[in-house]
Amino acid sequence: MKPRKVTTTTLAGMRAKNTPIAMATAYDATFASLLDQAGMDVLLVGDSLGMVVQGNDNTLGVTIDQMVYHTRCVARGASRAFVVADMPFLSYQVSEEEALKNAGRLIAEGHAHGVKLEGGREICTAVSRLVAAGIPVMGHIGLTPQHVHQLGGFKAQGKDTESATELIEAARSLERAGAFAIVLECVPGELAQTITEAIGIPTIGIGAGVHCDGQVLVCYDFLGMNDGFKPRFLKTFDDLGSRIREATAAYVTEVKERSFPAT
Ligand code: KIV
Repeated sequence: MKPRKVTTTTLAGMRAKNTPIAMATAYDATFASLLDQAGMDVLLVGDSLGMVVQGNDNTLGVTIDQMVYHTRCVARGASRAFVVADMPFLSYQVSEEEALKNAGRLIAEGHAHGVKLEGGREICTAVSRLVAAGIPVMGHIGLTPQHVHQLGGFKAQGKDTESATELIEAARSLERAGAFAIVLECVPGELAQTITEAIGIPTIGIGAGVHCDGQVLVCYDFLGMNDGFKPRFLKTFDDLGSRIREATAAYVTEVKERSFPAT
């Protein structure tokens, strides 16, 4: 029997039952299929692909066309998971019409089930517009990588009372605008707990402690394929980087020795 597909209702039900939500990024069909088979609830086609797939220093150069392409690849590989596509830099900030058109492309052409937008109160009108059009929206507050230059780097957020209060208000506004869940990135665990208790939709943490309704990580990071990225919050569940290098070296050796192919 095919497993039941995850929907926004499933995710709301998981929060209500205190069942943690597992979310990870995927950028292609092969990874999406493997993560889906392993029970991942939500697959995020993150604009982090600008860094981990394209090799850039930040996510700012990722285009809506690239997001549509990768989302379509991931959607083909997923069968149970809810697929969320990131709206890239400037695809939702210019006008609500542009936001709707671009989100619509991720849903209609990319086959995403929902979209994720970074920001707080300033994006709530756009969020309401997408929700009114039937597009599930996930919020993303705290360390928002599309604001990297304004934030002065990839730094933890919400550490003082003023910015913590602003983040709590941002979460409440996003919920009022109709978001179905919110990613909390790199905020103190205590603040993540306060936000989780202050709103009625699931929070998904990354570097935000144990009190969120779920956790999200970049797939290459938790699989140990990203040697250069070792923040304190990250746990690597394997060392695939080394295993891939070893397997590749074995293949290269056999080709050079003419022991592969055998006949
Ligand atoms: O782009 C991304 O991968 C993300 C997650 C880290 C939350 O937004």
